[in-house]
Amino acid sequence: MRPRLLLGAMAGMACLAAGTLLAQDAPRLRGPEPFTVEQPAPPMQRAITNDVRVRRNYPDQPPLIPHSIEGYALDLHANKCMSCHARRFTEQSQAPMISVTHYQDREGNTLGGLAPRRYSCLACHVPQTEARPLVENRFVDMDALTEPERQPGGRSNR
Ligand code: HEC
Ligand code: HEC
Repeated sequence: MRPRLLLGAMAGMACLAAGTLLAQDAPRLRGPEPFTVEQPAPPMQRAITNDVRVRRNYPDQPPLIPHSIEGYALDLHANKCMSCHARRFTEQSQAPMISVTHYQDREGNTLGGLAPRRYSCLACHVPQTEARPLVENRFVDMDALTEPERQPGGRSNR
């Protein structure tokens, strides 16, 4: 075979292989019916609202919201989140104060109030639901990488 032909054939085979892999790994999102048939929307998943603060997966992670946020206004005129999480309301609400980064603009200047780029809390902080994940989560905590001997089943020869 001439080199150019050979290359073409190899590229084709690689594409085929990738295609098969994708088909195997992709979660099934379309449901059992063809997409032309209208289906009732699946029920809303129940939100986790147990008020237990969730461990962060890495130090800079925006913490997850452990309480209900249903009906909380977040628009041009009102930010319900700040009625508990602003510094001056934390005594009565017992909510953790927004951290100092929420008072800083992108040049690092500390402002007198909430930085505009942090106004839309839900862009970074999200509640959780009891929905079953579509794909298996293989995230490994940093602690498991740096201290393998302390994890169950980890190295023990150190
Ligand atoms: C009525 C008061 C109140 C309101 C309104 C409120 N929160 Fe909270 N929030 C709390 C309290 C209290 C906690 C501590 C955990 C708990 O009791 O649920 C908390 C915890 C959190 C945490 C977890 C912090 C951590 O370190 O784990 C986040 C994130 C958060 N809230 C975000 C929000 C966002 C975003 C909104 C608006 C959509 C909001 N909260 C509105 C009272 C409030
Ligand atoms: C651009 C992303 C972003 C936005 C928008 C944002 N946050 Fe955060 N938030 C973070 C990150 C990242 C952290 C953790 C690191 C830190 O403190 O900066 C955090 C931390 C927090 C904490 C925990 C503070 C602590 O000391 O434990 C609370 C409470 C919180 N945010 C509430 C809010 C509320 C309320 C709003 C809206 C007014 C908001 N955040 C908007 C990214 C964001």
